[in-house]
Amino acid sequence: MIRLKDVTFRYPDGEQDILSHISLKILPGVPVSIMGANGSGKSTLARCLNGLLLPVSGLVEVEGFESRQEADNERIRRLVGMVFQNPDNQIVSTTVEREIAFGMENLSFPYRQMIDTVKDLLTEFNLVEYRSRSPHYLSGGEKQLLALAAVLAMQPLYLILDEPTSLLDPYSRKKILTTIFQNSNGRFKNVTPVLITQYPEETFFTERLIILHHGKIEFNDSPGRVFTNPERLLQIGINVPIEYKLNLGRQVEN
Ligand SMILES: Nc1ncnc2c1ncn2[C@@H]1O[C@H](COP(=O)(O)OP(=O)(O)O)[C@@H](O)[C@H]1O
Ligand SMILES: [Mg+2]
Repeated sequence: MIRLKDVTFRYPDGEQDILSHISLKILPGVPVSIMGANGSGKSTLARCLNGLLLPVSGLVEVEGFESRQEADNERIRRLVGMVFQNPDNQIVSTTVEREIAFGMENLSFPYRQMIDTVKDLLTEFNLVEYRSRSPHYLSGGEKQLLALAAVLAMQPLYLILDEPTSLLDPYSRKKILTTIFQNSNGRFKNVTPVLITQYPEETFFTERLIILHHGKIEFNDSPGRVFTNPERLLQIGINVPIEYKLNLGRQVEN
């Protein structure tokens, strides 16, 4: 379980709290999505969840490890994988296949398992033809797929996806999410996704939807129940699926 207890965060040079008194639980096997307007603190929250940022007050615990403890922090980074919004920030290797192997190598996975995993993930994410090329030659969307493959290769328990489909076309978006959430071949069955997204329809892949507004949690419920508040959501800059907007129209008419 990932547990946040009354977490408040502020950047060292900042004048205001970016996250304010956040408490939440993310349970293994219960995928979660997070929405919020630009600047509401989603990426900051993501970095707190995997120990990259430490709260100013409050606690972040993952499987009982506490992110402010140095030895624990290392464990947490391994348990909670993260795909960043901009894939250029995390791709480090000279070829596509080395990029997928890189993290596994650092974690001393057995050689045979590494070779098999790289091969499977290249196929799964349609990257086989680029395997020996530099990641620089990939499109933005392909880089996102590569970053995702490289994180999955390390078999994290939780996988934070920070707007992972923002550079993809609709077909690839759907494919990547289906691959992760419906774990077609069982490869990802032990990974609990945490999806940060600006596309409301994507939240229905998850069981819970957390809405952030100015660094505070405004809703934390099933996506279906959260979207029964279209008026408030639109007011705080969150897009709502069309069928819930239609409900809004009906309410206004009555
Ligand atoms: N490294 C940083 N230093 C100072 N302020 C930052 C930094 N990163 C983000 N912020 C500020 O924190 C707020 C939340 O940013 P962020 O977490 O990236 O929001 P989101 O991902 O929801 O768009 C924004 O006002 C942003 O300007
Ligand atoms: Mg962000």
